[in-house]
Amino acid sequence: MKTLIKNGTVVNATGVGAADVLIDGETIAAVLAPGSTLLGFDIERNVDTVVDAAGKYVIPGGIDAHTHMEMPFGGTFASDTFETGTRAAAWGGTTSIVDFVVQYPEQNILDQYHAWHEKAAGNCAIDYGFHQILSDVQDASLTAMDELIAEGVTSFKLFMAYKGVFLSDDGQILRAFQKGASNGALMMMHAENGAMIDVLVRQAIEAGNTSPYYHGLTRPWQAEEEATHRAIMIADLTGAPLYVVHVSAKQAVEQIAAARDRGLNVFGETCPQYLYLSLEEQLGAPGFEGAKWVCSTPLRARSEGHQHHMWQSLRTNDIQMVSTDHCPFCMKGQKELGIGDFSKIPNGIGSVEHRMDLMYQGVVDGQISLSRWVELTSTTPARMFGLYGRKGVIQPGADGDVVVYDPAGHTSIGLGKTHHMNMDYSAWEGYEIDGHVDTVISRGKVIVDSGQYLGAKGDGRYIKRGLSQYLI
Ligand code: URP
Ligand code: ZN
Ligand code: ZN
Ligand code: ZN
Repeated sequence: MKTLIKNGTVVNATGVGAADVLIDGETIAAVLAPGSTLLGFDIERNVDTVVDAAGKYVIPGGIDAHTHMEMPFGGTFASDTFETGTRAAAWGGTTSIVDFVVQYPEQNILDQYHAWHEKAAGNCAIDYGFHQILSDVQDASLTAMDELIAEGVTSFKLFMAYKGVFLSDDGQILRAFQKGASNGALMMMHAENGAMIDVLVRQAIEAGNTSPYYHGLTRPWQAEEEATHRAIMIADLTGAPLYVVHVSAKQAVEQIAAARDRGLNVFGETCPQYLYLSLEEQLGAPGFEGAKWVCSTPLRARSEGHQHHMWQSLRTNDIQMVSTDHCPFCMKGQKELGIGDFSKIPNGIGSVEHRMDLMYQGVVDGQISLSRWVELTSTTPARMFGLYGRKGVIQPGADGDVVVYDPAGHTSIGLGKTHHMNMDYSAWEGYEIDGHVDTVISRGKVIVDSGQYLGAKGDGRYIKRGLSQYLI
């Protein structure tokens, strides 16, 4: 199968230019001057498919490095399976995900890793890799980290919150980071002070403050800033590289920026919800509505300027990339578990389908440049998580993961409109995007074209990742 994408504007993190892209089999074979032949050989006549991308952008497929498909969490399971979640991702121009293998205390991480392969194998629409969660840091887990790296799991997430569920204490974190410093793993951190949060939550519930809004008030920015600082200190002490997930508070960004200014391998990720949504408008919605947006870290107060600051941090590279933290739950039977007690609302928002569009809207709105859009959503995720060269760039030899994006198109997000995630609501209902994902190609196969899904369950393959290519 040979595909020629002609007349488009190729956007890489390094620049923008008119070029034709030839995909042969699963791989990009050539990036050519528009309309050129190859030594007199007429390419267009010798390919199976020609995609006319005139007036459109040709970008490397999106990489969402933070998803939780069918995650067991909060007394239920995230409502997207690997099948439904990766298909929704494909619809939105994402051609790879990195999902989290879950370990709860006393579970064996290698058993969990194999269990996650069983969930994903044969079900995914797009390519997928794994990070490993560490909860209790067993001696066996530390040994198993080496084995997992050989399997292509080169990043490990720990939690400073969720006591009794995921939380690791500082000593456990120190030991895991020491291991990461010696074997090249990238250490990821959910940075919130869980002990402070647990007290504030108990006090709120006892005072009868049970609505979703209090989820935000009981996870204040001070808890995020403090934990971010502590994680940076443990990284500095051990020499491990640190990647802080789902950063939402401007004060946490300042901690990351200060660490980077000192030359440390410290990186931050944010998510579309922290750029667009807020404590006041979403978590503060009337009645139980706010449950739709209960996630951790929480949505922050717009009156404090966090959203504005998060966009700025994307321009200055204080924050390096945007993932979704896709962890969807339906209102019915799932979010509803927390009626009368916000602390029982399963934490998570579903956005895997909309990240490329929402971030493109940032280009339209003048927040980020076209190349930065690609860098934040594809190129840096590839470099950060050891995929660059294969993924994250339009260049010969890379996987044929290509999206044709129409800046003259339009996307209306919401139920009954653009919505393929397995959720009974959209956290992005009513969002209008001045752009449109027209064609999605995954390793040379056209899986979405002009509003039609052409892919199949099982198209996606496991990606064995290398060590991070982003370290100083
Ligand atoms: O609310 C969230 N973020 N749910 C997913 C689990 C996590 O902490 O990333
Ligand atoms: Zn987290
Ligand atoms: Zn997460
Ligand atoms: Zn279109």
